[in-house]
Amino acid sequence: MKILVIHGPNLNLLGRRETGVYGSVSLEDLNRQILELSKELDIHTEIIQSNSEGELVDAIQSRDYALLIINPAAYTHTSVAIRDAIAAVGKPAIEVHISNIYKREEFRKKSFISEVATGQISGLGVEGYLLAVRAAQKILLQ
Ligand code: DQA
Repeated sequence: MKILVIHGPNLNLLGRRETGVYGSVSLEDLNRQILELSKELDIHTEIIQSNSEGELVDAIQSRDYALLIINPAAYTHTSVAIRDAIAAVGKPAIEVHISNIYKREEFRKKSFISEVATGQISGLGVEGYLLAVRAAQKILLQ
């Protein structure tokens, strides 16, 4: 069971960036938690972070995985390219947001990704990624 976790732009600053919105857990700590849980559930997980839209599209197209967990960050609200890449590969995808994007500025309420995602987790903090890993296991066992 192979899953790919993608963190989009600025998430490399997690734990230092707008901590009132995104919390104080660093990306390194979060990735450790994701990998620990994956191991427990017998899932092989690869994690990448990029600030570049093209790199995210390339990863979605070319990495070896059965299910994608993606926090596209700001590209959620702008990227037809990432949306189309997810649609093109046709694999299940779980969209994760640390903050509740529907409770914030108007421009964050539109996600280009949700229409091609299996489901979305928004507003549960970094716990959302761990819930997504558990959901991934269920989806892949179906
Ligand atoms: C985010 C929400 C986005 O609106 C924002 O641009 C981010 C992070 C979240 O995880 O809450 O960078 O995806």
